[in-house]
Amino acid sequence: MANMAPVFAMKLFPGWNARIDGGREWKDGRAILGAGKTWRGLVAGSLLGSLTAFAQSFIGSTDVPFNDFGASYTAAAPWLLGLGLGFGAIVGDAVKSFFKRRTGREGGAPWVPFDQLDFVVGGLLFALVLSLLLVPFTAWTGLGWWADEFLGANWPRLVILLLATPLLHFVVNIIGYKLKLKKVPW
Ligand code: CTP
Ligand code: MG
Repeated sequence: MANMAPVFAMKLFPGWNARIDGGREWKDGRAILGAGKTWRGLVAGSLLGSLTAFAQSFIGSTDVPFNDFGASYTAAAPWLLGLGLGFGAIVGDAVKSFFKRRTGREGGAPWVPFDQLDFVVGGLLFALVLSLLLVPFTAWTGLGWWADEFLGANWPRLVILLLATPLLHFVVNIIGYKLKLKKVPW
């Protein structure tokens, strides 16, 4: 949801396109990040990530913490973890763009598998940091929610996320292209 949010935000607020890189160039004469990475997208992804996790915490079963973002063992975490996942997803996407520009690829050009995984890796890393920071303030034990959900016996969840996300990304982008939300089908 966070990764799709910037595309919707672009349609809703086309005038708010201040670039994260401020239009500056890197030493190689190419954009640092490119025109496709805006503050609007970062805000939209963070907000939609937060809102989605908050909504999921209501529909998730309370005895399966994974489904409710830890709501079953702490009150404040779902929206905050969603914010971390969403913010991290868009930061991951922007970090990808930095390296993509360095390879000489223009904004919007395909770069498999990095375009498909940037946001899931970024989201998971930021959620991990947030989870660790939240341990003293929650009923979480050990390394917190993130470790409970993705480490130990739950490591296959990480693998499934990393495999399923690129497939989902392809499908969503083809739909976005057909709906004329995106200029290219990737
Ligand atoms: N977008 C945005 N701000 C962001 C990320 C995305 O405004 N932080 C919007 C831009 O309009 C962008 C579109 O969402 O063109 C699609 O995002 P994405 O595919 O990530 O960007 P690209 O334009 O393809 O750029 P890149 O090649 O750097 O991935
Ligand atoms: Mg792209």
